[in-house]
Amino acid sequence: MSEFRITGKAKLAGVIGHPVTHSLSPVLHNYWLARKEIDGAYVPLSVAPDAFVTAVKGLQASGFRGANVTIPHKEAAFAIADEVDPMARIAGSVNTLVFREDGSIHGSSTDGFGYIANLEADGIDVAALANRGPALLLGAGGAARSIATSLLEKGFQVIFSNRTAERADGLAKELDAAWRRYFPKGDAPRLSTVAWDKWEEQLGEMALVVNTTSLGMQGGPALDWTPDLSRASSHLVVSDIVYVPQETPFLKAAKERGLTTSGGLGMLLHQARLGFKAWFGADTEVDDATVAYIRAALSKR
Ligand code: ATR
Repeated sequence: MSEFRITGKAKLAGVIGHPVTHSLSPVLHNYWLARKEIDGAYVPLSVAPDAFVTAVKGLQASGFRGANVTIPHKEAAFAIADEVDPMARIAGSVNTLVFREDGSIHGSSTDGFGYIANLEADGIDVAALANRGPALLLGAGGAARSIATSLLEKGFQVIFSNRTAERADGLAKELDAAWRRYFPKGDAPRLSTVAWDKWEEQLGEMALVVNTTSLGMQGGPALDWTPDLSRASSHLVVSDIVYVPQETPFLKAAKERGLTTSGGLGMLLHQARLGFKAWFGADTEVDDATVAYIRAALSKR
């Protein structure tokens, strides 16, 4: 690796958040930049909500190529984009901004792509899975929204289950309306909900189940969560977007039953590939070295 890789011509990008200190994205992008000897940098940008527009304009004026956007700015990012990808439009969320040379801003949502790419990297045939049965999504927050949109795109029937039932119902209705608006002539999306105290009973019919809640997350509400997977069929794929700890209670319960599992870190790593390509112009790989590097960074926290 070259020692002085940031020159006056460096390509610049960053992550806008508030707070932004928890973000792994600077570690990941700068690792890839160094490994590929690209003259560039990716920086954390702590921006208060009322300064978001000023900050984006300032970054554009300073020659940045774009930015990731995290909590609490995802809706503001959607609003500031001149053009938005179809799936981001349906999900109503943008986490990646690309500043174009003509001054316009392109917005996309890379979480759903990252989720699907990670399943595939884990050897799961997503198209075949969609034919096997529905996807059950636990949770109804922003992550559920992006993942559900990508699963609909892959042809899944999507069933939400959330502790607060109204949120699951609201999300299903909202996505249904957004999908029909965008694809007025296409097939209607298959969206429904199941009560929070009933999802475990429904597992036998599911092909995929995803935890998008904070259950089992270090520092979250229930590290000792013990989901009952006894009704799962032997071909159920169990995935969790929580990545600290690496083996969440949900994945542990699935492994104990011999089920196929897919962990959360890969989604974060794969989603970053799209922004990296757009800003720095290079393809990246989520290989063992990348995963090991990020795990080491996580363990130092
Ligand atoms: P994000 O946008 O990252 O998905 P979020 O909007 O805060 O995050 O959503 C967190 C999810 O975890 C929600 O679905 C939440 O359920 P509620 O809508 O009922 O709040 C879920 N969640 C958090 N703590 C939970 C707990 N103890 N039991 C069940 N679900 C929980």
